[in-house]
Amino acid sequence: MSHKINIEICETQDDVALLAAGKITTLVRNNPQSILGLSTGATPIPTYEEIIRAHRKNAVSFAEACTFNLDEYWGLGSDHPQSYRQFMNSRLFDHIDIPLWNTHLLNGKAASPQLECQSFEASILARGGIDLWLLGIGVNGHIAFNEPGSPVSSRTRLVELSKDSIKANSRFFDSVDQVPQYAISVGVATILEARTILLLATGNNKANAVARALSDPPGSDCPASFLQSHPDCTFIVDRSVGSRIETHH
Ligand code: F6R
Repeated sequence: MSHKINIEICETQDDVALLAAGKITTLVRNNPQSILGLSTGATPIPTYEEIIRAHRKNAVSFAEACTFNLDEYWGLGSDHPQSYRQFMNSRLFDHIDIPLWNTHLLNGKAASPQLECQSFEASILARGGIDLWLLGIGVNGHIAFNEPGSPVSSRTRLVELSKDSIKANSRFFDSVDQVPQYAISVGVATILEARTILLLATGNNKANAVARALSDPPGSDCPASFLQSHPDCTFIVDRSVGSRIETHH
């Protein structure tokens, strides 16, 4: 294999969560002012639960930490129940000691998406960049909402969601028609600037995307394949994804 991506194969989803949460809490213990990049979706939920557990045991404080999220649905305000702001508050921020003003999500109702995207990138830079970005991966190989076709140079911008992503996200809405068709999302270049990248993938349906991310030549067809160029990127996967990678190589 030519890629430099580290791969950790865990038996179960719970083991993935324990390992990922351990890496994040260690980082924050070593540097309480860590700048974390976070994602939404089903995959990181068990990891967030482990982080909350560690915080409750007094094992880690986020009082000085700062977070940035990958993306937000375009057209949903921060008080909308399906917004990623609400997801992050209810799944993580409300249960740890991070000040909400230190948690950054793109505003899905900003008057100007261009200005919103530029100021998000500027805030990341002003904080000195992301120490660790926690990612998931889409069945089509997307990272954040960098859908197939996204260039390696892409930065935070308004993007149209692919049919695959709309279908995959419809499980969080009453019907597929309610899923927003656009999002604002950090770009591939924004992600690659993080000092460390941790991508989590669990479940059979992610096996193909992970295999492509590891072995396709880096390219826009599978945006996660661009991670091959990152000097410190680790994929933590469960057995259902891991066995596919092992067979594949
Ligand atoms: C979420 C995000 C997406 C998800 C991906 C996987 O902020 O940017 O790229 O990480 O769609 O989603 P789940 O974990 O729900 O399978």
